[in-house]
Amino acid sequence: MTTIEYSAALRRFPFPFTKDEYRYSTNIEPAGSVATTAAGSWGAHQLDIDEHYLPELAQRTAILDRDPGRYQCLPHMAAAAWDAMLTLMDRLAAEYPADMSLARDGSRWRWRNDRLGADLSFTYGDEDSLPAPPLRFIADQVQEDIVLLDQREGGLWGDAGVVTFAADWSMGFDCGMSFLEIHGPVPRIHTERVITRAHDFLLRLTPEQAYRRTNWTLTVDGKLDTSTEGYPEWGRDRRTLAEGPLSAVGDRLYLRVEVQHLIRLANSGAVMFLIRTYLRSLREVASVPEWGRRLHRVLAELPQDMADYKGLTRTREPAVAWLGSIGMDA
Ligand code: HEM
Repeated sequence: MTTIEYSAALRRFPFPFTKDEYRYSTNIEPAGSVATTAAGSWGAHQLDIDEHYLPELAQRTAILDRDPGRYQCLPHMAAAAWDAMLTLMDRLAAEYPADMSLARDGSRWRWRNDRLGADLSFTYGDEDSLPAPPLRFIADQVQEDIVLLDQREGGLWGDAGVVTFAADWSMGFDCGMSFLEIHGPVPRIHTERVITRAHDFLLRLTPEQAYRRTNWTLTVDGKLDTSTEGYPEWGRDRRTLAEGPLSAVGDRLYLRVEVQHLIRLANSGAVMFLIRTYLRSLREVASVPEWGRRLHRVLAELPQDMADYKGLTRTREPAVAWLGSIGMDA
């Protein structure tokens, strides 16, 4: 038997399908458990730093410089933003102790991140002691997008966040909306009660245990930033893919997977939602035959309303055809 050597990126890719068909579900599981796949495993870390750390952070900075509205923090979220920053620093120091540390000295804290050459002291709650507001600052240290939800009046409200890599939504537009409003356009949610169940679950979330889930879509040319604001550009990519040659699809079309963590912040009581995005071209995905065959079946079977909502109206057919052309329809 030959053993195939997959690239590190494929070995760690969170291939999201456990069956040959996909439906919405309240797919939440405890964070930190290692999930094995046909090519390797993923999931040991809540904050995942990989070889794209520096380029993705540079991309985030460029997006925020161009479009500051990707960062939002309503005034009543200041305490949650500090809580999120310190929680993330603490977690980074625990998960990457060789490169990062957080230490307390009286009212001062010292944060060190050797990967970025950062070493600074700050006073918790004093914005002047940081180079940027806390949520904005910590977004420069992690590859994850971050949303903070305030809990009040028996509901959750997306009142702060730094989201530069959104899949067809906008932090600027959604800021201030309730969890149920944010999910309003998702099809089937009323009949299948996925979102109301998730809402009930999140209201009861405690700080002791973090949870995670995955979501997925297809993205043209591996673009991380497919926020609503940039639609004119990436909407055009979908058309050129659908109208272009089938032979280009394997390299132009990417399976985009989000690993999302749900964490209750202990001091402020806010819920922190982390979204980490992974992209692999269909050609790379199909180099793992189990993945290629499963993706072909999932895409071919996906009901039209879900495909439309996921933005796959133009790309699903070329994806299925290309996977079929390399024998993944077996
Ligand atoms: C257990 C928790 C959650 C579940 C089960 C869940 C479920 C879903 C589902 C099924 C979709 C449709 C995705 C698709 O078709 O590709 C969706 C979209 C979305 N979710 Fe969640 N979600 C959860 C938590 C959150 C949280 C905490 C936020 C934070 C604000 C959030 C923000 C969004 C946004 C912005 C969209 C896109 C909506 C749009 O198209 O405008 N989700 N979610």
